[in-house]
Amino acid sequence: MSLICLNDYERAASAILDKLALDYYKGGAGDELTLKNNVEAYSRLRIRPRFLRDLTETNTRCSLLGNEYKMPIGIAPSAMQKMAHPEGEIGAAIAAGKAGCVYILSTLSTTSLEDVAEAAPDTHKWFQLYIFKNRAVTESMIRRAEKAGYEALVVTIDAPVRGTRRSDIKNNFRVPPHLKLENFCGELCNGVRCQPGVAGVNHFLISKFDTSLTWKDIDWLIEFTKLPVILKGILTPEDAQLAYEHGVRGIIVSNHGARQVDTAPATIEALPEISRAVGDKMLVMMDGGIRAGNDVFKALALGAKMVFLGRSVLWGLTVGGQKGVEDVLEIIHTDLELLMGLCGCVNVKEIKPQMVVHESYYWK
Ligand code: FNR
Repeated sequence: MSLICLNDYERAASAILDKLALDYYKGGAGDELTLKNNVEAYSRLRIRPRFLRDLTETNTRCSLLGNEYKMPIGIAPSAMQKMAHPEGEIGAAIAAGKAGCVYILSTLSTTSLEDVAEAAPDTHKWFQLYIFKNRAVTESMIRRAEKAGYEALVVTIDAPVRGTRRSDIKNNFRVPPHLKLENFCGELCNGVRCQPGVAGVNHFLISKFDTSLTWKDIDWLIEFTKLPVILKGILTPEDAQLAYEHGVRGIIVSNHGARQVDTAPATIEALPEISRAVGDKMLVMMDGGIRAGNDVFKALALGAKMVFLGRSVLWGLTVGGQKGVEDVLEIIHTDLELLMGLCGCVNVKEIKPQMVVHESYYWK
């Protein structure tokens, strides 16, 4: 089968993965209305291309947090990447480095943060953090991430408890016995141990998350770490404003791949009001439902400085390990670059809000 777009990778991966893994990767919360809308909402937006502009020097480069990236597309944190392919997190992280983009490692990875750092030294890596009831576990994980060279902490705030994912309940999803959540297996993290084969993620680890978190804990974190703190899971301008007031360096508008609150807005719907509220004073990024270059273009036009791919990377990994992720990133990069040319944008700064309108614009 020739794989030329990200949806091809989803189809190919669906034929490879066993039911347990496929359902875990694919699934969303509740009736999966947000899951569907996360993707479909992009199709309700229209692109207004501009012509007769000099396109001799087109590029997709972007700068943020003091670094330059080849494209404004990175890899979102997703748990247990070795379930997709033995190359797992290391394969995905190396692929990100080769593509010149950011890799965010999940706390719930099947490779330790140190091993990923050692194997992918040239990749810009951020560490996604969950805050645990046992603060010593959190503290040691932060220090480990700092020491290993991660460049930012991405705190996921939208999972104080776990969304209801029906297929995982039906499948009695557990960490496959040959895999471990390696960040918890070191001596430094005695308070939380992974238990392969036990209903690992569902009952064990999630029960260790600190459900009492408030903005005070974000203040603590900013004080505690020397790394920039980014909050992932913002869906309202109110929380975006609070993030700004508490001194957070950036936010990722996200609904956790529609795995938490069903009927929460699609992230591309939530993005514009958040960008209007805080976009000129802090770094706004987003993820959710990005499947092609035109989705990226729309998110950039509506105020995101970078977008992240979740499931599409898992499909690439499933199909071809590191090479599969490289191919997925190359496809979406080329797609964005081509579209920018078609729309008269020589760089990402030229992707302006007025270039994207809701379909209702044409029927006023
Ligand atoms: C996730 N996501 C996620 N987020 C996070 O902060 N920590 C995590 O460990 C995980 N794990 C995870 C596993 C799987 C299988 C999926 C699909 C998602 C959410 C992820 O970072 C991102 O927000 C979404 O996946 C983006 O949406 P798309 O690109 O999958 O539509």
